Amino acid sequence: MSRFDGRVALVTGGASGIGKATATRIAAEGGSVVIADVQDEVGAAVASEIEASGGSATYVHLDVTDEKGWTDAVASTVDQYGRLDILVNNAGIGDTEPIEVTTVDTWNKVVAVTQTSVFLGMKAAGDALKKSGNGSVINISSMYGIVGSGVSPAYHAAKGAVRLLTKTTALGWAKEGVRVNSVHPGYIDTPILGETDRNLLIGATPMGRLGKAEEIAAMITFLASDDAAFATGGEFVVDGGYTAG
Ligand SMILES: NC(=O)c1ccc[n+]([C@@H]2O[C@H](COP(=O)([O-])OP(=O)(O)OC[C@H]3O[C@@H](n4cnc5c(N)ncnc54)[C@H](O)[C@@H]3O)[C@@H](O)[C@H]2O)c1
Repeated sequence: MSRFDGRVALVTGGASGIGKATATRIAAEGGSVVIADVQDEVGAAVASEIEASGGSATYVHLDVTDEKGWTDAVASTVDQYGRLDILVNNAGIGDTEPIEVTTVDTWNKVVAVTQTSVFLGMKAAGDALKKSGNGSVINISSMYGIVGSGVSPAYHAAKGAVRLLTKTTALGWAKEGVRVNSVHPGYIDTPILGETDRNLLIGATPMGRLGKAEEIAAMITFLASDDAAFATGGEFVVDGGYTAG
């Protein structure tokens, strides 16, 4: 038996980086995966790659800021696979500037994609996850949801909000058969880092390297599985030691 045999997962931001690694790992361990993203071609290619290597995956277009899009994505998942057991709220974007020059437009966009999406996702998937009887939600926050950096006010505020939205939902669903946890990555080598000087990030990380998407996927899949059966409302840091100091 594999850990996710017979289980169905929906992974947002599954076309790239941490989401892609998570979708691939869940499928490799027997689960069916719905990859939800706005990068349609790339996302569909990830689903095809998984299917080509013997896994079960579908791509669905979902802008995580769109409430109706969420209802449709959950409905099509349940139509196709008959259930939903695992929700990975992973899609996110960041801002990079100091508060003085951050516009309200930037603030609203980052909060919509990174924070409101998590609220919409849990709201839309709640009934299906409760029906699963063994539901698990993993919300991807950040080490920047725990500590500040001096810039990126919208990103820090949104990721901090995800941390507590996770805890309050975990308590609300504690007797409903749905566990809810947050994961807090450090600097991980994915496209979200953009033009940032990687050497600066490496220098700031006690382990002296960037993390890999697969190392975050390992924590996410642990929390999704029965190995984490007594874990709910927790915050799981995977940051090469950054927040330990
Ligand atoms: N890479 C890091 O250093 C790092 C550190 C801490 C937290 N995180 C978090 O991990 C998560 C995944 O990031 P990543 O590093 O894999 O980055 P990434 O840029 O590789 O992947 C993000 C994915 O989200 C998708 N996305 C963006 N806006 C969307 C929307 N409105 N609707 C649906 N999908 C959307 C993108 O198309 C992309 O496929 C994010 O929440 C990010 O904040 C990343």
